Amino acid sequence: MGDARAHILGIRSQALLAQAIAAAAGLGIADKLAAGPMSVAELAGHCGAKPDPLYRLLRTLAGHGIFAEEGDGHFALTPGAQPLLRDVPDSLQPILAGDFPALVWSTFGELEAAVRTGEVAFERAHGAGFFDYLAAHPQANASFDQAMALVAATEHPLIAASHDYGGVSTITDIGGGQGGLLAAILSRYPATRGVLFDQPQVIAAPAELEAAGVLDRCELVAGDFFTAVPPGADLYLLKRILHDWEDAQALSILRAVRAALGNNGRLLVIDAVMQPGNAPDPNKDLDLNIMALTGGRERTEAEFAALFHAAGLALEAIQPLPAPATLAIVHARPA
Ligand SMILES: C[S@@+](CC[C@H](N)C(=O)[O-])C[C@H]1O[C@@H](n2cnc3c(N)ncnc32)[C@H](O)[C@@H]1O
Repeated sequence: MGDARAHILGIRSQALLAQAIAAAAGLGIADKLAAGPMSVAELAGHCGAKPDPLYRLLRTLAGHGIFAEEGDGHFALTPGAQPLLRDVPDSLQPILAGDFPALVWSTFGELEAAVRTGEVAFERAHGAGFFDYLAAHPQANASFDQAMALVAATEHPLIAASHDYGGVSTITDIGGGQGGLLAAILSRYPATRGVLFDQPQVIAAPAELEAAGVLDRCELVAGDFFTAVPPGADLYLLKRILHDWEDAQALSILRAVRAALGNNGRLLVIDAVMQPGNAPDPNKDLDLNIMALTGGRERTEAEFAALFHAAGLALEAIQPLPAPATLAIVHARPA
């Protein structure tokens, strides 16, 4: 009983600590301290904060190795605070601070009500569906795209290295965001062409294709994957797409891809595949996250197989990606 109480209270206090880290990221503390330690009063002036609450925020974080209080009342950057810097390659800023992280926090506050009513927590909190809201709020959409690109940056090289794309002439990435996955694959396969398919506002500036030097081998196509996707590719990718949607919508997307595939095409779905049973599985946490944000769901192997079957596809194999990715490549072919 004592252990169970401590376990639950420990989890509960993590929520406030997570908010404290987000607050420090939003205030840009790490960047202000990059040039050297600073007094709280000076720091408060630089980031538009009040000294007393700022001190108490930093004192708490310093107890967790994020910033350090020095003897003279100055605070300093620590290795634990490095990911809060904005301009480092592994910066966590995009998923901690900005419009999209703020939307996520306010969504989670609606979880209990959403479980009671069956509504989507995001819609309760923000009055519109997730992607409709983003389409109407360009700054939030840009913040979301940056957060997605950050999460995806560790996954894309693993996806590119884990499958042999040799012999594929055209790959279409459906809902491919800013093109990071195509960039990772096309960089390794110079003879392969890519099609990036997403909403018009998302493909407007495919920075990752440009940075990888593969934009000249890509076609950018704007559209709605519930209606139709471009035909003619021999391989289609759906990464972190099906999990955004309930079965009825996921089926519409798969039917659109099936119609484009012809009889010889292949589809790779890259998504979480949830383990059954009670074992801890990060994908179960991801399932709750996506339930709250979009009303979507993560799926088990059996659930993928059933969806594919309904769309005229057959599940061929499930290939888990190496850590740190928690996703798998689910191989499908026309049934
Ligand atoms: C969760 S993100 C995944 C992005 C990318 N595949 C990745 O893994 O980083 C979902 C993507 O679906 C796109 N999307 C949402 N609704 C869409 C629609 N109706 N038609 C086409 N793309 C859509 C979004 O713009 C977004 O880029």
